[in-house]
Amino acid sequence: MQVQPPIAMLAELTHRCPLSCPYCSNPVELTARESELSTDDWRSVFEQAAAMGVLQLHLSGGEPASRRDLTDLVRAAREAGLYTNLITSGIGLTEKRLAELDEAGLDHVQLSLQGTDAAMADRIGGYRGGYDRKMTVAKWIGEIGFPLTLNFVMHRGNMHQLGRAIEMAQEMGARRIEVATVQFHGWAMQNRGALMPTREQATEANRTVAEARARLKGTLVIDYVPADYHADYPKPCMGGWASTGINVAPDGLVLPCHAAQTIKTLEFDNVRDRPLADIWQNGSAFNAYRGTDWMQEPCRSCERKTIDFGGCRCQAMAIAGDPTATDPVCVKSPDHAKTRDLAADFSAQDEAEMTWRVMDKTPG
Ligand code: SF4
Ligand code: FES
Repeated sequence: MQVQPPIAMLAELTHRCPLSCPYCSNPVELTARESELSTDDWRSVFEQAAAMGVLQLHLSGGEPASRRDLTDLVRAAREAGLYTNLITSGIGLTEKRLAELDEAGLDHVQLSLQGTDAAMADRIGGYRGGYDRKMTVAKWIGEIGFPLTLNFVMHRGNMHQLGRAIEMAQEMGARRIEVATVQFHGWAMQNRGALMPTREQATEANRTVAEARARLKGTLVIDYVPADYHADYPKPCMGGWASTGINVAPDGLVLPCHAAQTIKTLEFDNVRDRPLADIWQNGSAFNAYRGTDWMQEPCRSCERKTIDFGGCRCQAMAIAGDPTATDPVCVKSPDHAKTRDLAADFSAQDEAEMTWRVMDKTPG
């Protein structure tokens, strides 16, 4: 069967990052600089991606600005014909570097926000002075005129700042804000006690987003990932496994999603060894949960199975211990009550210590 190509590629250029957010979506076993793909390797990946039909390239990390060759990578991607989006904390970008990225053809910038004031942002990012630096970078981004998306990652500690984050997006001239509640994989999984929002916070965030969407219609687009441990139905993670998105890790491993390595039964191919299109089409990890044939009950006979695709495979693994299970967030899952209890328990752990991301952390 010929499968449709992915629309978007997430290129995790590096796991290196000056920040150390406790919810980082990178795996707990981070890739060292020596193992990263070279400039030429990435150029080949971009050309292969464009040839197979990928349209958008999200340049991510870690912090992509930690790669000295970032401008060359953007140029290579544009020459391959890809739309380029830089996902950055802003740290490591100078006015000169941004001008060079503009000249190289960068299409869009997505700037992360750890909090709406220096005290919150610098504490969560683990980087003193980071917030002030980010505000300066935001000003340069506006002066150059890059289309901007602000990305606000929410958790129990900063969810009360949502309204202000939306205001800041407007003040910065952003066209879009992505409001994403922390997803519990990798580093965030180790910090569920410190990060899990309360049910009241989740409800209040839903209300704030609905009100802002109505008020700012036509002015600001608000993408929203709600606190799914408190929800009744799961998110359609990745728009369905291996259907619209493909991720390439810093060392060239090709993944169906950023947390796929938490599913230990999967085996991943590397772009150093196998053509990208072949991995997408025939790779065992991509075919493991593609479509709906892999589903168990209750998903198999559910009317929502082509809406949410059974939710998130990595969350099913993390909570139910089975990547083919119904996402435990779902009211129809036998693990739904357990998930509710976990959410209530973690969200009440006010004394929980936070573990910040560190580069040489070994899994524990
Ligand atoms: Fe989605 Fe499966 Fe729940 Fe149906 S049973 S709503 S397909 S997760
Ligand atoms: Fe892997 Fe949702 S994060 S499928």
